[in-house]
Amino acid sequence: MSAKLIDFRTIRYHEGIVEILDQTLLPHSETYCTLRTLEEVAVAIEKMQVRGAPLIGVTAAYGVVLAMQKHASDAALGVAINRLSHTRPTAVNLHWALQSMRDVLECVPAEARLKAAQDRADAIFSQEVTVTEEIGMHGLALLRSMSAALPVPRELRVMTHCNPGKLGTPGLGTATAPLYLAQQEGLAVHAWVSETRPRWQGALTAWELSRSGVPHTVMVDNAAGHLLQRGLVDVVIVGADRITRRGDTANKIGTYLKAVAAKAHGVPFYVAVAGNTIDFTLNDGVAEIPIEQRQADEVLHAGNYFPFPAGTQARNDAFDVTPASWITGFITERGILRPEELESHFNPKP
Ligand code: MRU
Repeated sequence: MSAKLIDFRTIRYHEGIVEILDQTLLPHSETYCTLRTLEEVAVAIEKMQVRGAPLIGVTAAYGVVLAMQKHASDAALGVAINRLSHTRPTAVNLHWALQSMRDVLECVPAEARLKAAQDRADAIFSQEVTVTEEIGMHGLALLRSMSAALPVPRELRVMTHCNPGKLGTPGLGTATAPLYLAQQEGLAVHAWVSETRPRWQGALTAWELSRSGVPHTVMVDNAAGHLLQRGLVDVVIVGADRITRRGDTANKIGTYLKAVAAKAHGVPFYVAVAGNTIDFTLNDGVAEIPIEQRQADEVLHAGNYFPFPAGTQARNDAFDVTPASWITGFITERGILRPEELESHFNPKP
């Protein structure tokens, strides 16, 4: 179903090489870069040439494949998993994918590891594509019902944040998946896209929505409260990088403020996410989810523009945590769930 909607590929493994769309060059250049070693994969994740929680997980899985191509010993497997697990701290999909690779590879002899690693990484890739379709179908049902309930027929206005899109997954994206399916069936939608300083992931969202013809308008990050207050937003849908068992949600910095403003103005706030982004080892997200601290330079420079006095200090938290109580529901591959339903659907007691 999604094949014709996926109009570019974010990652591909073939003939012993990983190819990634270099997201640091978008939207100006659509350049694929070739990764041949574990270290090249790790650096590509660190530099955000690939980004977005699900895609980081898939890329790391293929990083293990490249490591096994070179050397398939227990020691090499340990080195690969250790190196990749330290690339970015917040997105739990990275650890999920690496654990999944470890579980499979530890059970097979070294001579069978490369093939097993390729098969498992391909399966993780395919699983991520499928769940974005399922998230999209459940999200589309929500958009249909919200659209039908509008007092006068018009486009449904969906605010998002960061790039919870095709570029962050190998599939249709998380929060963008319902938008693509709505566009395909002719349901009128319009997306509000946050610029997402300092790394401009909103530009990535605008790039991919433009390619698919989904109507959208970019806004500065600080406009969210204003637009919600004016009744210009029907629903907020964001992605996630890590969710705790009670539903506290880490996503790109600025997500929390959108949730607070949405609640203040009675606008539903949804998180579109796959079950493998839930970390059932954690409960209190604010206290327990590790928040990536990035370089101050990302805040102080806007491209070649350096508007701050020399020596200015900057803090660059890449993510924030929205407590479960601010979240209306989670659009998952198993349906739309309230925070308290996550555990029974994704981590049922034996
Ligand atoms: O720092 P990034 O660009 O990797 O952050 C990505 C996000 O926060 C996305 O919104 C999230 O991964 C959503 S799922 C595609």
